[in-house]
Amino acid sequence: MVKLHDLEFEPYISEDEIMKVIDGISEILNSDFGDKKPVFLGVLNGSFMFASEIIKRFKGDCEVSFVKMGSYEGTETTGNVKTLLGLNQELKGRQVVLLEDIVDTGNTLVEIDQILKQSQVEDYKVVTLFYKPDAYKKDIPVHYKGMEIPNEFIVGFGLDYDGLGRNLTQVYKRK
Ligand code: IMP
Ligand code: MG
Repeated sequence: MVKLHDLEFEPYISEDEIMKVIDGISEILNSDFGDKKPVFLGVLNGSFMFASEIIKRFKGDCEVSFVKMGSYEGTETTGNVKTLLGLNQELKGRQVVLLEDIVDTGNTLVEIDQILKQSQVEDYKVVTLFYKPDAYKKDIPVHYKGMEIPNEFIVGFGLDYDGLGRNLTQVYKRK
């Protein structure tokens, strides 16, 4: 059990399980993008740990970049996604692999979709470690989903509750 601010969380997904899922995704990414010199685009803050594991396992040439988006307050999405740090790299004509910690309502994806279309990327694919199918309300395709989870609030492995919990090496869910 861990306590973050006023809430208690219980163990949910072990580090071992997370690493197995990442191994699986990485195998597919290596085969789909190994010779394509992709740009991995991580969505901060939540995806930093996932991005690091994915990028460490990638065997071909690649570049790494980040954008920073924010929409959550506490355990709820505000529905209002802000770009806190935009693209700082020319992505025109590139193959982009978007790395997300979790796709929930999809509001963040819609925002990033616009940014990537404006930058005239050649193509982009969405990779997410966690996916909440019951919450997702958009039609942007999510190509690689690590793990589907029910509509529960989780923390750890990059995910936070009001800034805390990102450093936890396994995932916990709200008690
Ligand atoms: P979306 O825009 O609703 O898809 O939400 C995406 C963002 O909300 C993620 O990148 C996370 O930062 C945050 N988020 C969504 N669900 C959770 C959760 O269960 N725990 C912590 N953060 C979450
Ligand atoms: Mg995030």
